[in-house]
Amino acid sequence: MLIVEGLSAGYGEVNVLSEVSIEVGHNESVAIVGANGAGKSTLVNAICGLIPTRRGRITKDGRDIHALPAHCRAELGIAVVLENRHLFGELSVRQNLELALNRGRLRKSASIQLGIQDVLELFPFMNERLNSAVDLLSGGEQQMIAISRALLLKPDLLIMDEPSTGLAPKVVKAIVSVVASLRGRGMSLILVEQNVAVAEQNSDRAYVMSLGRVVKHVDRGGWSEFARSELVTAYLGRQ
Ligand SMILES: Nc1ncnc2c1ncn2[C@@H]1O[C@H](COP(=O)(O)OP(=O)(O)OP(=O)(O)O)[C@@H](O)[C@H]1O
Ligand SMILES: [Mg+2]
Repeated sequence: MLIVEGLSAGYGEVNVLSEVSIEVGHNESVAIVGANGAGKSTLVNAICGLIPTRRGRITKDGRDIHALPAHCRAELGIAVVLENRHLFGELSVRQNLELALNRGRLRKSASIQLGIQDVLELFPFMNERLNSAVDLLSGGEQQMIAISRALLLKPDLLIMDEPSTGLAPKVVKAIVSVVASLRGRGMSLILVEQNVAVAEQNSDRAYVMSLGRVVKHVDRGGWSEFARSELVTAYLGRQ
């Protein structure tokens, strides 16, 4: 479904990613792990079109998308939950969700069709907070709204950049269980994570990044050996 080949990208004069190649299959959940500054978010930005590709190709379902603007990639089914969420803080939860719903209508043939009622079932706390301004909610609550908003775009590839960072274990558990329920429902996932345990629990395979490159591929069946190895401390620091 998604193939990134020999990707270089960066900001201004600075090149961050060098020769990055990853693949994500249909219905697959793939983790991207790596230390702070490894280039994970830059890869996310490049895949969803927030920064240009300098070299290499990005194809989705056989179509080269590397030169398409971000909104076209969204219409092709790529939705992203960015690190800093990018919600409209002064608008209510309902208004944030409705904006996404309107955009999601552009994807008529999507295999996943989630409406507001469906995301309220996934994250029931939102029922009581629909009219609250997003700025007044906690970080964990905002993260759940950001995930809901991405789902309303009817993606077939959902990219989440560190959804568990800074959140209480209870919130992480709620998010993880929603992620688990999305797997196997026709959605592919890219999960950026620094927490190896959360990544292992929620993905089939992983790419380890360091200094803007993919330095290791953890294949199916290789997770538990990797998670217990010294490579984790070497690439990600103490867990
Ligand atoms: N907007 C930007 N302008 C210039 N350089 C940037 C920008 N964003 C990131 N960088 C640089 O790119 C490199 C990779 O950053 P990136 O945010 O992709 O790492 P990361 O793996 O997501 O880290 P973290 O785990 O801290 O989120 C860093 O050296 C960073 O300083
Ligand atoms: Mg990041």
